[in-house]
Amino acid sequence: MHLVNNILFFVLISFSHQLLLSQSSPFNTFVSQVVKDANTSLHIMPNYLIDLDAPFTWQGCIVQRHSDVVCGIIEGCLSPVSCDDDLCKEAQSYAPNPICPSLNITTKYGCQICAVTPFNPVSNTCKLSQLTTDWVWSFSVTNGRNPHIYPAAEIRLSCAPSSLLSTLPKGVQGVAAFSWSTLAFPRQLAYPDVADKFALCLPSSSSAPGVTFLGDGPFYFTPSPNLDIRTILSYTPMIRRSSKSLGYYIKLNRISINGTPVHLPSLKSESVKLSTVVAYTTLRSDIYKALVTSFSKATKTIPRVNVVKPFSLCLKSSAVGSVNKGFRVPKIDLETESGKVWTILGDNSMKRTGNGTACLAFIDGGSRVKDAIVIGTFQMENNFLYFDLENEELGFSSSLLARGITCSSFNSTYVEEK
Ligand SMILES: *[C@@H]1O[C@H](CO)[C@@H](O)[C@H](O)[C@H]1NC(C)=O
Ligand SMILES: *[C@@H]1O[C@H](CO)[C@@H](O)[C@H](O)[C@H]1NC(C)=O
Ligand SMILES: *[C@@H]1O[C@H](CO)[C@@H](O)[C@H](O)[C@H]1NC(C)=O
Ligand SMILES: *[C@@H]1O[C@H](CO)[C@@H](O)[C@H](O)[C@H]1NC(C)=O
Repeated sequence: MHLVNNILFFVLISFSHQLLLSQSSPFNTFVSQVVKDANTSLHIMPNYLIDLDAPFTWQGCIVQRHSDVVCGIIEGCLSPVSCDDDLCKEAQSYAPNPICPSLNITTKYGCQICAVTPFNPVSNTCKLSQLTTDWVWSFSVTNGRNPHIYPAAEIRLSCAPSSLLSTLPKGVQGVAAFSWSTLAFPRQLAYPDVADKFALCLPSSSSAPGVTFLGDGPFYFTPSPNLDIRTILSYTPMIRRSSKSLGYYIKLNRISINGTPVHLPSLKSESVKLSTVVAYTTLRSDIYKALVTSFSKATKTIPRVNVVKPFSLCLKSSAVGSVNKGFRVPKIDLETESGKVWTILGDNSMKRTGNGTACLAFIDGGSRVKDAIVIGTFQMENNFLYFDLENEELGFSSSLLARGITCSSFNSTYVEEK
């Protein structure tokens, strides 16, 4: 019976794909919730950590040998990818992290497998494993307003020994690549074929999920049912350093606090990266010190309290705002290369650390960091970020809270396709 079910199920999937293909689906965007883990503050697309730098998606699994037909929901449908597959060549074309083991095991297995080294960006660990094909269940498509059930999508991902999952939040099964790689999760979804664009709207609280859209929208949130978020975005070029660079970089002209430029040598040549595995924006020491000095000057009338590590400037929180109304602190403006300004308001600049304390939520990364500025998730929360790989630009909204919208206000009620 199990076997029959599996065969039937497989036939059904194939059939529904054919159907969607032939009908040209009315949907052009996938949608998924994004959950903030309470313990680690990491952002999870159930049940995968979102990583803007990973060359491919991976999950804890064991490759199963099976015939072509019999594979079903419970056991998954993991098929090895062979070493001469183009996608294998793509996966192996990105320089692995130097800590990863050598891929030289072809001598043992021949060309039946595609050796890759999945990497855990939280623990900085790496294992030898292999690329496979699998089905992703429970993904949804959207018309921009509500999710709709979607049968299943086939993607390439790597298996990894489950030991690679330790240090990741409980329940997380793997890491979803959201990088420039052809093997990135958004770029692996087809039928409907989605544009080479995705949006992240990270939640600030672990009690209400945010949302990610894969495709080109539109995007609506319930507080403003007639506002397509695309119409409020500013854009700046997204720099791809080489055809094999994975992460997303932008350039900044200057940083200002309440309109006064932070005294810094030119930022134009500095590397500014976006990261979903760094919690707080991390600055090279000279930039950090200049920012803290300026922010300190701009807030000199506000009572100080004892510093809470890893921060270095903490204010008495009752003096800068209430839990309900957000913080009244000077705004921090990042003027991007295009001249458009990404404004960081109190909710994204001050972290409540308890005991009546709110700290400037930026971190000193030391003087020898690879990237002068790494923008972390705390500064992205409740901001709409639209990664347009097609046009190589980043769309940003600044805080949606100023418009009464949060990243948790996408309508998650499923509706039937009409
Ligand atoms: C790969 O392994 C084989 C056999 O162990 C060895 O002969 C070969 O030199 C290795 N190649 C590299 C690049 O390490
Ligand atoms: C958070 O961590 C604590 C202690 O390690 C653990 O007991 C709890 O289950 C964790 N909660 C979540 C949501 O992972
Ligand atoms: C809370 O803040 C007060 C005043 O700054 C300080 O005396 C006290 O030790 C703090 N308590 C904790 C648990 O940090
Ligand atoms: C969410 O969508 C459902 C279905 O379209 C609708 O009935 C409901 O009113 C929407 N909720 C909000 C808060 O707009």
